Amino acid sequence: MTNISAGITAVHGYLPEHVVTNHDLEKMVDTNDEWIRSRTGISERRVLQGEGKGASTMGEQAVKGLLEKSGLQPDQVDLLICATVTGDYVFPDTANIVRHKVGITSGWGFDVNAACSGFLYALNIGRQFVQTGACKNVIILGVDKMSAIVDYTDRTTCILFGDGAGAVLLQPVEDGTGIIDSELLSDGSGSEFLFQKAGGSKYPATAETVANREHFAQQDGRTVFKAAVSGMVGAVQTVMERNAITQDSLAWLVPHQANLRIISTVASMADISMDKVMVTIEKYGNTTAATLPLCLWQYEDQLRKNDQIILTAFGGGYTWGATYLKWS
Ligand code: UT7
Repeated sequence: MTNISAGITAVHGYLPEHVVTNHDLEKMVDTNDEWIRSRTGISERRVLQGEGKGASTMGEQAVKGLLEKSGLQPDQVDLLICATVTGDYVFPDTANIVRHKVGITSGWGFDVNAACSGFLYALNIGRQFVQTGACKNVIILGVDKMSAIVDYTDRTTCILFGDGAGAVLLQPVEDGTGIIDSELLSDGSGSEFLFQKAGGSKYPATAETVANREHFAQQDGRTVFKAAVSGMVGAVQTVMERNAITQDSLAWLVPHQANLRIISTVASMADISMDKVMVTIEKYGNTTAATLPLCLWQYEDQLRKNDQIILTAFGGGYTWGATYLKWS
C-alpha cells in the first residue's frame, strides 16, 4: 500500500455572459419572480448563446483556464474525463472534442453520463487512476448546456436550469490531503422521474417526438425532491460517520445546486450550519454536472489546505453520493 491520494490541486470555471433573469422568464411562461425565488432560491441563470456553440465551447474555456492556472502544458495531461448529459453530439464524446480544442494530444479521454451526479462520479473514476499511479495529471470536467434540452414553454423545468462548466485538476499527493472516502450509489427505478425521453435508441427522433416536445428534459419535481433529500442526507451521514467527521471539524459541505430548499433541508438533517454550505444557485441555477466544480471555483479564495470538505450530489438515473476530501 502506498500513501498516494488524488488531490484537487487547481480549479477553474466558465459561465456564459448572457443572463436570463426570473423577470425574463415571466415574459415566456406563466410564472413570477417571487414563486421562483421562494420555491427554488434562483434569481437568474446563464445561457450560452450563438449558433454552433455546444458544451465543448464552455468546456474548452474552463480547461484552458485550468491549465493556465496550474502551469501545466496540454501534453502533460494524461486523462480528461467529461461529465455531461448535453454533449455536443450523441457521439462522439465531448471529452475528446475538448481535448482537441485545447491542444491535448497525449493520453486519452471519455464522457460520463450520470446527470447531476456526473462530476462526483467522474471525480471518483479519476481518483482511481491517480491513486494507482496509472496517471499523474487528470482533468475532471463537468459541463452542461441545459438550455439545449430545456423546454422554454414548461414552467416547471425552464426556471431551474442554466449553462456552465467547471474543471479540476487531480494530481497525486502524499501529505494526507486529497480524496479520502466516497459513498456512491444508483437506482435505475428512478430513471423515468427525470429524463429526456426521445433521441436515444428507444425513441429515436421522429417528426412525432419533436412535435410532442420529447427531446426536452422532463421531471416529476416532487418525487425527485424527496429522493434527492433522502439520498444526499444518507450519503453525507454515511461518509461523516465512517470518517468520524463532526459538525465542528467539517469546513464545507458542497451540495449539488438543484433547489435551495433541498440544500437547506439536507444541511439541517445532517446538522450542518448553513454558513458552512456552498451556495451558488441564486445566480447560476442548476447547471447539472457543473454545479460542484463551479461551487469550488466560486469559493476558492475561502478554501484552506487540509479543510475537510464533503461534496454531495443527486441526479437523474437516479444517481447520487458523497465524497470526503481534504483540500490540497
Ligand atoms: O438536479 C436534479 C435533481 N432535481 C431536483 O432536485 C429538482 C427537485 N424538485 C424541485 O426542485 C421542486 O419540486 C420544483 C422546484 C421543481 C417544484 O417545486 P414544488 O414546491 O415541488 O412545486 P410543485 O411541483 O408541488 O407545484 C406547486 C404549485 C403547482 O400548482 P398547484 O397544482 O398547487 O395549483 C404548480 O403548478 O406551483 C405550480 N408551479 C408554478 N407556479 C409558478 C410549478 N412551477 C411553477 C412556476 N411558477 N414556475
